This record gives sequence, structure tokens and C-alpha cells, in this order.
Amino acid sequence: MADKTLLFHISDIHFGLEDDRSLDWVMQEIAEKRPAAVAITGDLTMRARHREFSAACSWIRALDVPVTVEIGNHDLPYFNLYERFTDPYRRFHAIEALVERKLDLPGLAIVPLKTVRRWQPRWPWSHGWVTDRALERALAMIDRLPKGTRALVACHHPLVEAGTHGKAWTKGGDHALAELAKRKVLATLSGHVHDAFDIVSETPEGSVRMIGAGTLSQRIRSTPQSFNEIAWDGATLDVRVRSIADVPTKSMQVSEVPEDAMPPRKPDEPVAPVGAVPRVDPPVH
Ligand SMILES: [Fe+2]
Ligand SMILES: [Fe+2]
Repeated sequence: MADKTLLFHISDIHFGLEDDRSLDWVMQEIAEKRPAAVAITGDLTMRARHREFSAACSWIRALDVPVTVEIGNHDLPYFNLYERFTDPYRRFHAIEALVERKLDLPGLAIVPLKTVRRWQPRWPWSHGWVTDRALERALAMIDRLPKGTRALVACHHPLVEAGTHGKAWTKGGDHALAELAKRKVLATLSGHVHDAFDIVSETPEGSVRMIGAGTLSQRIRSTPQSFNEIAWDGATLDVRVRSIADVPTKSMQVSEVPEDAMPPRKPDEPVAPVGAVPRVDPPVH
């Protein structure tokens, strides 16, 4: 490991509903392994409350290693719509102030790509959206990198679906991914769906590796809390998903009610197949 650059990719801590045991574990791992950087791909908070951002700041500061942070859909004001429209990133700025601008990653750069919006002409506003402006900004950063430096593009939403239970529905994601393929980025790093993945996605311009980190919150979906350890040796990117593993599946919490959720059945009620429409007999006259 001596000649490899180690990164920790963590996501969706959701302070306000964080998982303390997972956070203690990750902090311990960071203290022992001293990664060159920790990339956090959004949803630091649950509802963007001031106390949640303050907890996030304290935790990040205590890591004592360089950190990059992307904004997630949960990090925009949720209760204060006036602020959400007029100054959506104000609360997040306190976190950005902690972020390292200069990372010591030989031949590697972490480039941010914003995938959240203060509002969208569709519901819910939690879905991903890559605006032209956000994409242009990220592409310009990639194009300005020194020759030979490879880009890891950090964003909150997966740009296209990655086969996870949770979906990102990222508008403009296909186009963004194709533009990243043109520039031969090393990979995208994302969160949002709360389950880890490491896949290769095809675009008309070539393929892009997509790496997703799970969650460190109590809001687990299909898998227990996890994070990614990424090692770069100048030629190969190795991804290891580190899972806390012993969280029982029955404690799983999801942010949306599944489509097949049924109300509790009364003891004498016949079992209807999932998705069946209850049969109503025509009235007898
Ligand atoms: Fe999340
Ligand atoms: Fe999210």
C-alpha cells in the first residue's frame, strides 16, 4: 500500500438521523489508515437544520485529514422555503469552509459536480438534476487539469441508475455521463441511493466507471451501513466496500413506502395476491 494513494469515499451521513456506531467505526478507520482524502458525497444532514450542520462540522473537523464535500438534496433548507429559494446554499457554506482546496493526490483530482436544485418543475425535488451550468463548470475544471491528471467526479446523485433499490432519476445525467466519458474520467463517486455499487456504464461516447457509497445513517435500504476504501496506484483504482455487516435486515428503514406495502391483514381476511385489485360483486337488485 506504500505507493498507493488511499481515499475514503463516504456518503449520506444524515446528521439528525446518523448512526453513531458507524460514525465511530469510520472515524477509527480514518485515524488508523490516514487516507490522503475523505470524499463525502452529500446528504450530510437530515433536514438541513442548523444543529445538524453544526454536528457535521464538528465531526468533519475531528477527522483531521483533508475532506471534500458535495451538497445533497437533504442539505438544502427544508422547512424554510423562503431561504430555500433565496439563499439555498448558505447553510452548506459553513461546511465548504472546512473543505481542503488543495489535495495531495498524485495524478488524481476530485472534481465536484452539483446534482441538486432548489426546486424542479417536477416532484419530488429530491431527484437528481445536472443543469447545463453545473456540467459546464465541472467540465471546465476537468479540462484545466494538468496533463496526465485523472479526474474522479464527485456528485450526490448517480448520473444514471445503478441497479439499486433506490433511484436517482437524474435529469441530464445521461448527457453528463457521456461528456465525462469523452474526457476519460477515472470514475464518478456518488451517494443518495444508500447502497454501494461499483459498475461500468456505457454511453455513446464510451464507458464510465460509477462508484457509489452506501450510507452511514440509520436510513439503510437494502444493505447495512458501509463506506468505500479506494486505492489508486497511478494505473488502477481498487474499490473495497467496507460494511458494518452485523445490522439485521429487519431493522432496515426506507425513506419511501414500498409500492407493495399492504395494511395489516385482519385475522379472517383472505390473502390477496400482491397487486391484485379487490373484486367487488355487482349489487343485486
Ligand atoms: Fe441520502
Ligand atoms: Fe440524497
